[in-house]
Amino acid sequence: MEGNGKAEGAIEMFEAQAHIYKHACNYVNSMVLATAIQLNIPDIIHTHGKPITIPNLVSALKLPPHKSNAIFRIMRLLTHNGFFDSTKLNEEEDGYVLTASSRLLLKSQIPNLSPFALFAVDPVMLAPWMVLGDWFSRNEESSAFETAHGAPMWEFCDTNSRFNNVFNEGMASDSQMMRLIVKDCEQAFEGVRTLVDVGGGTGMIAKLILEAFPRLKCTVLDLPHVVAKQTECENLGFLGGDMFHSIPSADAIMFRHIMHDWSDEECVKILKKGREAIMANKNDGVKKGKVIIIDMVLGAEEDNERDVTEMKLIFDVLMMVLVTGKERTEKEYENLFTQSGFTHHKITPIFGLTSLIEVFP
Ligand SMILES: C[S@@+](CC[C@H](N)C(=O)[O-])C[C@H]1O[C@@H](n2cnc3c(N)ncnc32)[C@H](O)[C@@H]1O
Repeated sequence: MEGNGKAEGAIEMFEAQAHIYKHACNYVNSMVLATAIQLNIPDIIHTHGKPITIPNLVSALKLPPHKSNAIFRIMRLLTHNGFFDSTKLNEEEDGYVLTASSRLLLKSQIPNLSPFALFAVDPVMLAPWMVLGDWFSRNEESSAFETAHGAPMWEFCDTNSRFNNVFNEGMASDSQMMRLIVKDCEQAFEGVRTLVDVGGGTGMIAKLILEAFPRLKCTVLDLPHVVAKQTECENLGFLGGDMFHSIPSADAIMFRHIMHDWSDEECVKILKKGREAIMANKNDGVKKGKVIIIDMVLGAEEDNERDVTEMKLIFDVLMMVLVTGKERTEKEYENLFTQSGFTHHKITPIFGLTSLIEVFP
């Protein structure tokens, strides 16, 4: 019995060791994924049109044959992680095919999340993690990003055009997922004739909304360096500005992935500007304006799914490290709305990680 007891204790400790190593080495998963994207592996498998063997993949990648074993090992890990499937073609060879996850990484398709996956491991994004421990004992910087790069993220983007592009492309690629559910949000846009997408980046979401609701007129408000080169069209305009100073009036003011970038105090300032913009709106025929927030809500029903909860908690810490923001529970959102003068709100979970929150003055 004693022997068994010891063995059981040992099993638990070895499981704990595997758990620790898995988390300590998790960056390997991120980096291997980014490498597969950089090498163009998903697109090559897609173009091949049937299960691809390692020799065929190596030849399509135009790599020296002695790199075959390295490619095999990358493919084996990515297959284990659900990015590819493998089928036995004969005694000796496996063929690799795409899965739902790698289909979302195809550069030739929409949505294409490759720019987001590359943005997430950009050296600029990784540097703050090296100083996170130091940041805890420092008072001067608002985020570890500022400790690492000497400027808050938005200022850094203004001066570093390479990272500004990587960031904007990452955001735009993530926005493409909205295409799948924009029609489901119809009720939120009912009766809305003018919309301002605050912090709307390069306008990807605005374009998707206009495709679904062509009678809308939309203005994207973002920092001048983000909107500088965007092309306007009849019902889509771009405005360089600062949401802390002023937001143009409209029937609805939208914030997608904006609230989670900012602290409670900063959110209240932004929401008050949003409320002013609705109240100043002179359009008749619309009963009352509203703010539309698209963001994650912690503790929403679908959090029973472990992966979704983990992803929300990861985003929460990301927001702490990169900017001054956080992910919030419904109660925390409600406190922000009350402090900003709004009377009521309605939360509708949409697919994936995000919820749609309508907030009324
Ligand atoms: C996390 S991104 C979200 C982009 C877009 N809404 C989306 O969902 O993909 C935050 C955006 O807020 C913009 N932003 C930051 N500070 C701002 C300010 N003071 N006024 C207007 N936009 C700002 C950034 O340039 C960036 O495009």
